[in-house]
Amino acid sequence: MIEQQALRGNFRCEACGDLYEVEYPGWSAGRNEERSQATRPNPNALRWLWRERRASTAMEDQSGVWRFREMLPIVKSDASIVSLREGNTPLYPLRRAARSTGVERLFAKHQGMNPTGSFKDTGMTTALSVASEMGFSWVACASTGNTSAAMAAYAARAGMRSLVLIPEGKIAWGKLAQSLDYGALTLQVKTDFDGCFRVLSEVVERAPVYLLNSVNPYRLEGQKTPAMEIAEQMEWEVPDHVIVPGGNLANSSALGKGFLEMKRLGLTTRVPKISVVQAEGANPLYCSMVKTGGKTLEPVAANTRASAIRIGNPASWKKAVRVIQETGGWVEQASEAEIALAKAEIGAEGIGCEPASAVTLAGLKKLVRQGRIAREESVVLVLTGHTLKDSEYTIQYHRGKLLGEDEAAGMEAEIEATRRNTIELEAAADNVLRELERASR
Ligand code: F0G
Repeated sequence: MIEQQALRGNFRCEACGDLYEVEYPGWSAGRNEERSQATRPNPNALRWLWRERRASTAMEDQSGVWRFREMLPIVKSDASIVSLREGNTPLYPLRRAARSTGVERLFAKHQGMNPTGSFKDTGMTTALSVASEMGFSWVACASTGNTSAAMAAYAARAGMRSLVLIPEGKIAWGKLAQSLDYGALTLQVKTDFDGCFRVLSEVVERAPVYLLNSVNPYRLEGQKTPAMEIAEQMEWEVPDHVIVPGGNLANSSALGKGFLEMKRLGLTTRVPKISVVQAEGANPLYCSMVKTGGKTLEPVAANTRASAIRIGNPASWKKAVRVIQETGGWVEQASEAEIALAKAEIGAEGIGCEPASAVTLAGLKKLVRQGRIAREESVVLVLTGHTLKDSEYTIQYHRGKLLGEDEAAGMEAEIEATRRNTIELEAAADNVLRELERASR
């Protein structure tokens, strides 16, 4: 592990400019393979211990992140842990989508079921605990809305102050409301996410503020724990494929790290293929893979209604490329209409998610059509955010006001079949009964 004090404010190596990654001497990344055999924990003992902790009343045992703390020795004392009982999220079978895609063993790992409604909580509990242990009083992030909601909540729990930079007018109301409610100093900056991040990178060099964007390697340590949960929920048989939305590309990197570390420790015998799906309007990784095989990445001017992943210059792209190539996954992209339809389909399962999460189902359909995912294989879609995060998007969709005609071209029938607008009527039982009858036909 890199000494915390040695980390620069922007978490980039002074020599090569690349992002840091947390490694554990003894068992990470295959170093000193022989010597590390002796220092590795016993996989059976770990599986037993992690399950037992769920019955404990201690806060660090009830957290679905810190329950796996043998995999993340990043705080000096458990007393530093700041937790909202994150993690332990459900793995739902997607029965309708399984029928429509033909992939029988199709599951959603719903990270929107975390305390602030997104996967960011798993990484925020770890990085904020480190910040608190290091004695910072201010933490900060640039965000498309979910990181800021999570950071503000965890900072409030720790008695710390939080500074949020969000792109003006480009985040969902639910997320903005959370940031205000949890007491963050919230700045709406007249730029996009990439611009917010640029400004904040300078701020953290000039003020004693701890940066909690996903360039912070401790975020990824927490965000790798859903990999452990998925393995545990599938009786330590990992799925054939895991599909993740791609924005700043930290989550795909973190999950890949989790699966690879579990295999190295002998907890599992293989790793799933990890595939990343981006919105067509915010697809720098997709373009990079198609044009250069992931060697270089050209930033794009990002534009998508899936505002969580409206990112044109992703910080963790090199880590994501490594994970995709090491696990044998792919990168796909989804159009605005494909995302909206997939989101409605996930809603119709009684689960729901925010738009950015729905790219996973849209991407799965394409990967199946291309023959890259076989119907008999098992697939986990990582749903990153709760449906209530962006209810305006959902309402616009069901009112038929979300997509332009050209965007929906060719998909009108499928979209129409998933739309459920409200019906206005006078207050009489007859009127209600008429609608009931019509809907039952
Ligand atoms: N899904 C949701 C709901 C998100 O909020 C994000 C990122 C992603 C997917 C993409 O994850 O960036 O690790 O590739 N949201 C960040 C934020 C950027 O500020 O909340 P990623």
